[in-house]
Amino acid sequence: MTAPEDQPPVVVPTPLAIAAREASRIAVLTGAGMSAESGIATFRDARTGLWKDFDPQDLASPEGWSADSDLVWGWYRWRAELVRRSEPNAGHVALARWQKQAHVDIATQNVDDLHERAGARVLSHVHGSLFEPYCSDCGTRAAFDDTGDVPAEADQRVPPPECPLCGGLIRPGAVWFGESLPEDAWAAAENAVRNADLVLVVGTSGVVYPFAGLPAIARSAGATVVEINPVDTEVSDMADHRWRTTAAVGLPALVAQL
Ligand code: APR
Repeated sequence: MTAPEDQPPVVVPTPLAIAAREASRIAVLTGAGMSAESGIATFRDARTGLWKDFDPQDLASPEGWSADSDLVWGWYRWRAELVRRSEPNAGHVALARWQKQAHVDIATQNVDDLHERAGARVLSHVHGSLFEPYCSDCGTRAAFDDTGDVPAEADQRVPPPECPLCGGLIRPGAVWFGESLPEDAWAAAENAVRNADLVLVVGTSGVVYPFAGLPAIARSAGATVVEINPVDTEVSDMADHRWRTTAAVGLPALVAQL
């Protein structure tokens, strides 16, 4: 295992380095790959994907919730605990640092709080948050810390807490398949990419719409679009440049040369 000091320096592609220095407004679109180097499994990477043991329809849908709310609540509560035991990675920290010296809007699909725990402001959590559960009947927000037992396993059933106001079941704060995105969160994300000079697309497979449509919107609005992902994705062809690196390697190198 070579020590970090023996690693060759990370070379930031020149077009990206120039674009990042010259941009007055930057939008960063992040997906699960942003948190992969914090140890949080992505959804679709075969080896470790969160879905490898579960069918998304069973866990991340209103039908799944109606069929087995204990299983769904236990899975999300388990995921929240994984996040709580994880730390922001160097990519999260780099974005927080960049925000201190430039106008950088972050719109994320991630329901974790690692951007915030790195000190970054998140403009929009378009798919909601693990840490903002609410009543499935009256919509009242529930304090996450009051939501009871922490399951030891991903498939451990845990009865969801009851709403103190109406007695309804408290549900996870994530947006499920078949549900519409929070209007204000979507509008903020779309507005950010329409007004950005540079849009970074970091760690997303680009398969879930409408978020996956943001790079095309950015491009049509005249932004330079750069993808940071180790592999090609469904949105790679929307990028002007594709940097085949990871979030925790590429972003610190990019911000360090600004
Ligand atoms: N750095 C950057 N990208 C990475 C890294 C890394 N260290 N590790 C993996 N990736 C990339 C993968 O190559 C893949 O393209 O991150 C992407 C993860 O893709 P998905 O697992 O599909 O996650 P995401 O695109 O965020 O999923 C979108 O799907 O299940 C729904 O609501 C859920 O928000 C989620 C949405």
